[in-house]
Amino acid sequence: MNKKLEHKKVFGGYPKFKKELNELVVSLEQKHYLERKVKFLLEIRGYLKTNKLFGNYIEFGSYRSEMQYAAFKILSQSTGIEHFVGLDTYIGEPTKNRMDNKLNLFDAEGDFGCQFDKVKEFVDKNMNGKGVVIQGDFRDKSVLKKLDKYKQIAVSVIDCNLLSSIESAFNYTIKNIVDGGIIYFDDFFYNIKISNELNKLMKKANVNFIEHSFYPPFGKSYLVIRK
Ligand SMILES: C[S@@+](CC[C@H](N)C(=O)[O-])C[C@H]1O[C@@H](n2cnc3c(N)ncnc32)[C@H](O)[C@@H]1O
Repeated sequence: MNKKLEHKKVFGGYPKFKKELNELVVSLEQKHYLERKVKFLLEIRGYLKTNKLFGNYIEFGSYRSEMQYAAFKILSQSTGIEHFVGLDTYIGEPTKNRMDNKLNLFDAEGDFGCQFDKVKEFVDKNMNGKGVVIQGDFRDKSVLKKLDKYKQIAVSVIDCNLLSSIESAFNYTIKNIVDGGIIYFDDFFYNIKISNELNKLMKKANVNFIEHSFYPPFGKSYLVIRK
């Protein structure tokens, strides 16, 4: 059947079209706020396994440890991930610097505050000794120092909104990630200024990046290949 005839046959009038479109939108709509992150974790599981990547999962900006727990659930059985580490201030977004202020970032100082003790209790009880939470501003070297024990990185999740925080997480990751390790940026496409700044950071890094996937609305992942 040629394309014109096919189209005539499928189109059953506007009322039917509107109903079908509504159903299509509902079926394609995101069902849970963690959906893109869970998809990412499910999609890297096979890659980590077949490439025998050993190291740790590090999440820069782990908030209530929800994605961190999802990572533990999805990756701890079948991959070589040893520890699942989350870093956060736990008092919310830290102070922005001049660069952050120029980028029209969406949230304000103190957004995403949560209780460290409650998060730690959840992680200690539910992650089989493999969960770690580190409190503090990771733009500060003394906080990154606490990662020393876990610095062989297999998966780095950078989900910390401020460019100054993303930059610090990125630089630490590039220094310590294993060959073939994966970086997930949750805010890559949040606005074109951030995309542009991240592109600049990636160009400066002395490694090769292979595009991995896109997790709408803003997430993007890359494989990091050492030169
Ligand atoms: C969008 S939330 C993270 C959500 C989390 N990854 C999840 O999937 O549930 C961003 C977090 O980054 C944290 N953050 C931003 N900059 C930081 C920094 N320099 N040091 C520590 N935490 C930071 C904030 O406190 C906030 O909790």
